[in-house]
Amino acid sequence: MKQVLIERYGTPWEVARCAEVPDVGEPGADEVVFDVLAFPINPADMSFCRGGYRLKPPLPATPGAECVGRVTAVGSAVTHVKPGDLVINLQRENWTQRRRVKGDDAIPLPKGIDLRQAAMVRINPPTAQLILSDFVELKEGDWVIQNVANSAVGRLLIVLAKQRGLRTVNVVRRADLAGELKALGADLVIVDGDDLAARVAAVTGSAAIKLGVEAIGGAATGRIVDSVATDATVVHYGSMSGEDPKVGRSNFVYRGVKLTGFMLGRFLARRSPEKIRAIYADLAGQVMAGTLSAPVDTVYPIEKIKEALAHADKGGRNGKILVSPNGQI
Ligand SMILES: NC(=O)c1ccc[n+]([C@@H]2O[C@H](COP(=O)([O-])OP(=O)(O)OC[C@H]3O[C@@H](n4cnc5c(N)ncnc54)[C@H](OP(=O)(O)O)[C@@H]3O)[C@@H](O)[C@H]2O)c1
Repeated sequence: MKQVLIERYGTPWEVARCAEVPDVGEPGADEVVFDVLAFPINPADMSFCRGGYRLKPPLPATPGAECVGRVTAVGSAVTHVKPGDLVINLQRENWTQRRRVKGDDAIPLPKGIDLRQAAMVRINPPTAQLILSDFVELKEGDWVIQNVANSAVGRLLIVLAKQRGLRTVNVVRRADLAGELKALGADLVIVDGDDLAARVAAVTGSAAIKLGVEAIGGAATGRIVDSVATDATVVHYGSMSGEDPKVGRSNFVYRGVKLTGFMLGRFLARRSPEKIRAIYADLAGQVMAGTLSAPVDTVYPIEKIKEALAHADKGGRNGKILVSPNGQI
């Protein structure tokens, strides 16, 4: 079977290759085997290839934080999924044609779900949802500000916030995105820049923004922190710039703003397996209903992983880059 391998850490499309590897074999009693139907290339996967991610396994290694698969075989003790079912996988190493995992790591998805969207259910939708639920008690009408608003997480957050009656200020780096994001439910769309806090105050009527959501790092974190209310919380969940947050200390000392971080695994680990399955069942239901979706730019075969990675690195895409390892989407 085919699998993506990196044999050194470095520029993703230089270090990754599509290799021939032995098949995963039959499932043990508590295991599930599935064909990988599609996986997205996420920013964290790019960092993984570069050796900049928090996990840096010995090489050769296979990237891939998420995927959607179709079950081909289950062990005798597995009862919650059967051959033919669609699943997402809570474990990594998904850039491959086939996976063999513990039954508990295979989360069933509803029949008929759009496979491209299903490939992106595992990480970004719960990230947007838990960032909105786990830090600040927000009530209808409250304001939230986020940057990278055009990212997959950002777009999902706009929709989930709107469902709860929250209002969003969406910070982007391209002004031409305003119409698209407003169509999703964004209240305000504003271009990032030095005077962000003053411009946000002007367009919101100096609203007290209770939650800031931030995934750029460097001075951009500081601009979100400057834009929120006294005693507000800012959640840093990614670093598209590769820089550590740079924040003016007066925000902490004089205004009591709290800067904290989010990592999906850490926040899911606080929940029981039943609760985790319930979260994904709800999110998958919303994908089926068409309320949650993430745009897809291009789908590549696994043999073209180098082209796919180079494309994923380019700014200004119209959505995610997906890979279809078995040619089924
Ligand atoms: N902590 C967690 O558990 C967790 C979970 C999921 C995602 N994340 C993080 O969330 C972030 C977004 O992920 P995603 O999958 O939603 O991303 P995505 O859909 O691939 O989009 C990336 C976004 O980043 C913007 N961007 C890229 N480089 C930038 C830069 N140097 N400065 C400002 N903006 C930049 C892009 O802007 P354009 O649209 O203008 O090109 C695009 O909107 C990533 O940092 C990812 O690692 C974290």
